[in-house]
Amino acid sequence: MSLERALELAERGRGTTRPNPVVGAAVVRNGEIVGEGWHERKGEPHAEVIALGAAGERARGATLFVTMEPCAHHGTTPPCTEAVLAAGVAKVVAGSLDPNPEAGGGLEVLCRAGVEVEHADSFAARAQNEAWRTWVAAKRPFVVLKLGLTLDGRVAIPGSRWITGEQSRRRVHELRAHTDAVAVGMGTVRADHPQLTARGVDAVKQPRRLAFGRGPLPLGVRLELRSGALADELAALAEEGVQSLLLEGGPTLAESFLREDLVDKVLLFVAPTIASSGPPFAPELVAPVQLRRFTSEQVGDDLLLSGYVHEP
Ligand SMILES: NC(=O)c1ccc[n+]([C@@H]2O[C@H](COP(=O)([O-])OP(=O)(O)OC[C@H]3O[C@@H](n4cnc5c(N)ncnc54)[C@H](OP(=O)(O)O)[C@@H]3O)[C@@H](O)[C@H]2O)c1
Repeated sequence: MSLERALELAERGRGTTRPNPVVGAAVVRNGEIVGEGWHERKGEPHAEVIALGAAGERARGATLFVTMEPCAHHGTTPPCTEAVLAAGVAKVVAGSLDPNPEAGGGLEVLCRAGVEVEHADSFAARAQNEAWRTWVAAKRPFVVLKLGLTLDGRVAIPGSRWITGEQSRRRVHELRAHTDAVAVGMGTVRADHPQLTARGVDAVKQPRRLAFGRGPLPLGVRLELRSGALADELAALAEEGVQSLLLEGGPTLAESFLREDLVDKVLLFVAPTIASSGPPFAPELVAPVQLRRFTSEQVGDDLLLSGYVHEP
């Protein structure tokens, strides 16, 4: 219950904590929340330190719920494990482990010091920082493959500009507004001259806009050309601070990403149209790709199907 509250609190930091994850914490004593906190900005106190500070003496013997285990290293702030021990809490419940090899292991440190610890392993807690977790652990951006498809799996309908409806297209602009980078292959650049900007939505900042391929870019197309091997380009982007990448196709580039196991999440906007002709999404893979946590959602007249290749 209080982990849910900690998850809510974490969301208050969304958009300001970069490059850090969002984290929330709640201190509970005798069934009552006596302190709350969330991480707001890199260099500023972590969620659990704020929550423990708010609880004061009431933290002694209480339970600390935190969305990610307290860090165990000196970063821009001292280790949170020290603050937890100093506060004298009896138990710590963490929604997720810290995948950062330098900062992880906080629960173990606390356990060795005699604090009761529980790793709740909450999918919601991991998903809350899905991009950051992949960026930290795999040293590449979290890759979301998005495609618009007809019912018979076509990625384009001859003679038609769009496959999906207006609401799906709006959703794509929202996705762009919340990702660090958007990418297509040169085939799509040559066919569609896409801008890849987030338009008609509140975008605090525009994503970086990339074209994978040898080029050259057609005149007037303002995308960054990335001509290296996919894995190398992703590693380079991660070094440049890109935590999330929205891959907007087309089918050739999507197939290569899937073959190289570089897709983390798939979003398929499926339109209620049987096109009968047009290029198909029919990737040739070495083995079937199984999606987990597969869900569907109605978006206007379309269905949005989503699932994870790699759970965060
Ligand atoms: N329905 C949708 O969601 C959707 C989305 C996007 C596009 N489309 C449609 O798809 C069609 C274009 O399809 P497409 O398959 O030609 O486009 P694409 O997948 O966007 O582009 C293919 C190009 O990507 C480049 N590339 C770079 N690295 C690659 C790698 N490792 N493996 C494979 N390709 C790599 C190559 O460009 P170089 O030749 O320069 O090396 C290749 O020719 C258009 O009709 C477009 O409208 C549909």
